[in-house]
Amino acid sequence: MSFQSLGLSQPVLQALALKEYSEATPIQTQAIPTLLKGRDLLGIAQTGTGKTAAFMLPSIDRLRQSDRRAGPRACRMLVLAPTRELASQIAESARSYARFSQLKVVTVFGGTSVGKNRQDLARGVDVLVATPGRLIDLIEQRYLTLNDVEILVLDEADQMLDLGFIHALKQIVRLLPARRQTLFFSATMPKAIKELADKFLTDPAEVRVAPAATTVERVDQYVTFVQQSEKQALLTMMLRVGFAKPDPAKGNPGGSMERVLIFTRTKHGADRVVKLLGGSGIPAGAIHGNKSQPQRERALAEFKSGRVKILVATDIAARGIDVTGVSHVVNFELPNVSEQYVHRIGRTARAGAAGVAIAFCADDERAYLKGIERLTRQQLNVSPLPAGFTAEAARIKATRGPSPEPSHQERRDEERREQRFRPQRAHRGRGRYASAVKPMGAGGRRHAAGR
Ligand SMILES: Nc1ncnc2c1ncn2[C@@H]1O[C@H](COP(=O)(O)OP(=O)(O)OP(=O)(O)O)[C@@H](O)[C@H]1O
Ligand SMILES: [Mg+2]
Repeated sequence: MSFQSLGLSQPVLQALALKEYSEATPIQTQAIPTLLKGRDLLGIAQTGTGKTAAFMLPSIDRLRQSDRRAGPRACRMLVLAPTRELASQIAESARSYARFSQLKVVTVFGGTSVGKNRQDLARGVDVLVATPGRLIDLIEQRYLTLNDVEILVLDEADQMLDLGFIHALKQIVRLLPARRQTLFFSATMPKAIKELADKFLTDPAEVRVAPAATTVERVDQYVTFVQQSEKQALLTMMLRVGFAKPDPAKGNPGGSMERVLIFTRTKHGADRVVKLLGGSGIPAGAIHGNKSQPQRERALAEFKSGRVKILVATDIAARGIDVTGVSHVVNFELPNVSEQYVHRIGRTARAGAAGVAIAFCADDERAYLKGIERLTRQQLNVSPLPAGFTAEAARIKATRGPSPEPSHQERRDEERREQRFRPQRAHRGRGRYASAVKPMGAGGRRHAAGR
């Protein structure tokens, strides 16, 4: 479907022409006309299929048409996202889609200067993209009011409604005008969260391009069963082959890896992988919540530019992040929340590209694998350990020096310590939202702000 036939304005179409999008994706085709009419909407579509434009394009036109102006310290459209990097990326997209629409787009999130936020908001903004923690801080300091919000968007809506964010979200929603348009988007939507989502939407249209948690067909998905203590050697071997230079004399066509994103369950685990890869002469960047904001930004920028071809990340980079050319996603450890698997592997095969996802599954992760296969309604292809693995693994371990490989118990303790920063598993029917109706305490806010 062409964008012309969806009812968008000339300035928006002009901006799209510069982006060289030839036609609208299914979620865009189905969501845009409904959103232009002003309806609330829940939009579910696979990763990398253009949900950002699906909510931004019609919203830009609604803001233009309503012809109001944001008062001082106010915003007209509020987009909430779970991580700073995603908020920043959404704002960048919004600016490019609105480049002929004279709308002011601003971001606020943790790890940046509150003074700068205050200045940015002083004269009012059209589109504000925020993470919940910093947003609430600014409201409490009276640098921002939500009285003028016409459109609320929750990107990665199921995560925004989950335990880590629900307190903050409830507090924010209480401050919004009742008359507003509300849009929720995600690639996943667990049933229990969907019931909660309905409470925030008024007579919503539901657009489901595919059943929730459907993975993109163009991702080839594999699992290799391997002991936890052997994973690092397997990764090293895989990267050596994947990034091998072509050698026509030996008939070697070269490796197929271009840019590889590796997920671990913990921040310490991510640092460990980077360190050990370094010991084997393989440079890699890291992005997780223990890094400073400038370090996080640099790691992502270097990965985007291709200067660094391997990025090791926690789930901070699992949702929404759009980097072109990620050829492989490696789940060094499987996520214990199945939905996260869908988002992690969705960092490859975006916007029509193809990709490969490889999961390393240790004995104690088999239950996670089952959960993932049940959720995505498909089985991963089993890829055996490479020939001569044991001998090669021993050689790798011997050459990279003493290994800081933690014991099983140490890894479990590490996970428990970091637990509160990770997405929560959905527990149905155990009063999981009971605490969310209470006024938010400082703990809840810190929790959300920490991401
Ligand atoms: N109509 C289109 N034609 C071509 N490319 C598009 C189109 N719409 C969006 N894109 C591009 O597709 C990529 C993915 O878009 P986007 O990040 O919005 O996906 P998403 O559905 O939000 O994915 P995720 O679930 O991972 O957040 C972006 O690089 C975007 O510029
Ligand atoms: Mg997205």
